Amino acid sequence: MGGSKLDIWHSEDEPRLGAVLAECWHLLADGVADPQHDFHLTALATTHAGLGCTLRTVVLRKVDPVARELWFYTDLRSRKIGEIQNDPRIALLFHSLSDDTQLRVQAAATIHHRDGLAETAWCGLTPRRRRDYLISGPRGLPWAWATSGLPAELEVRDPSETESEAGRLNFAVVVCHIGQMDWLFLTPHGHRRANFSWNDEGRLQTSWLVP
Ligand SMILES: Cc1cc2nc3c(=O)[nH]c(=O)nc-3n(C[C@H](O)[C@H](O)[C@H](O)COP(=O)(O)O)c2cc1C
Repeated sequence: MGGSKLDIWHSEDEPRLGAVLAECWHLLADGVADPQHDFHLTALATTHAGLGCTLRTVVLRKVDPVARELWFYTDLRSRKIGEIQNDPRIALLFHSLSDDTQLRVQAAATIHHRDGLAETAWCGLTPRRRRDYLISGPRGLPWAWATSGLPAELEVRDPSETESEAGRLNFAVVVCHIGQMDWLFLTPHGHRRANFSWNDEGRLQTSWLVP
């Protein structure tokens, strides 16, 4: 229970699923706004034809509860892009130690590159944040030494606004449209679990689950 904002265990009433769903959106919004929040980072799972499943950490950039979207930014040349193109079904895993909460998300991902949405996001990035997209060559390419992939001078300073523009071509926004969320709340007195899923018409179905 320690520190959780969801004070359902001291309540006279059974917790309502609606309050739990609101708490999920709240935690995700905190994750976007606060780099120190546990939900700021998420593990993204995609399907790989040979490896089966692959995982990596990404930063949660935006949450839209109405559209049921979670956004992250990435390099168009990264392996995950090909994997999403092959199979847009992705999963995201969040865990907050301080909120005793795990959230598992199933979603369909859409890649935005050089469209209005991606351009707006790119314009919102400082030159420092754009530096990641100035790495030369495809991500994950074997190299003879421990390279950063950056031009040497950009290892020790931020790119100028003009220099940072070269990253625009590599920048992509991935929008994950949520189909299902599985919430797990840990307490010393027994855990609680709930599922939220939306059908093709966007109708929400909710259920408590045995943890
Ligand atoms: C703390 C942290 C945050 C990261 N954030 C991102 C991110 O927002 N977007 C991204 O593409 N990669 C991010 N990465 C790097 C990825 O985890 C991964 O190494 C990289 O994207 C290549 O993945 P891929 O080969 O599966 O495409 C982050 C890594 C760490 C450790």
